[in-house]
Amino acid sequence: MVKIGSIELPEFPLLLAPMEDVSDPPFRALCKEQGADVVYTEFISSEGLIRDAVKSTMKLDIYEKERPVGIQIFGANLDSCLLYTSPSPRDS
Ligand SMILES: Cc1cc2nc3c(=O)[nH]c(=O)nc-3n(C[C@H](O)[C@H](O)[C@H](O)COP(=O)(O)O)c2cc1C
Repeated sequence: MVKIGSIELPEFPLLLAPMEDVSDPPFRALCKEQGADVVYTEFISSEGLIRDAVKSTMKLDIYEKERPVGIQIFGANLDSCLLYTSPSPRDS
């Protein structure tokens, strides 16, 4: 068995790769229905999140039936990226 924090997964989990313009909620839900153990969001700009850009915040729309969901955040500034992790690695 594989564990990510409190999430228990089968020994060979099926993960949906993060794909820009593809891994949106309907596609993730479909993949989940078809057996994905974990799905990922499209990549999300940390700078977009900080500026509350609709295109970025929309990518954080996650529905219960999709869980567990990985969130892929990218950015050139580490502190901006860490703002959206919980708990922050810097807290430990
Ligand atoms: C249309 C498309 C969009 C992608 N977008 C992302 C992305 O947003 N972030 C990322 O890390 N990888 C992205 N990738 C790469 C995939 O996550 C994956 O690593 C790649 O397709 C190789 O997967 P495979 O080894 O299962 O074939 C994208 C790939 C495709 C085909």
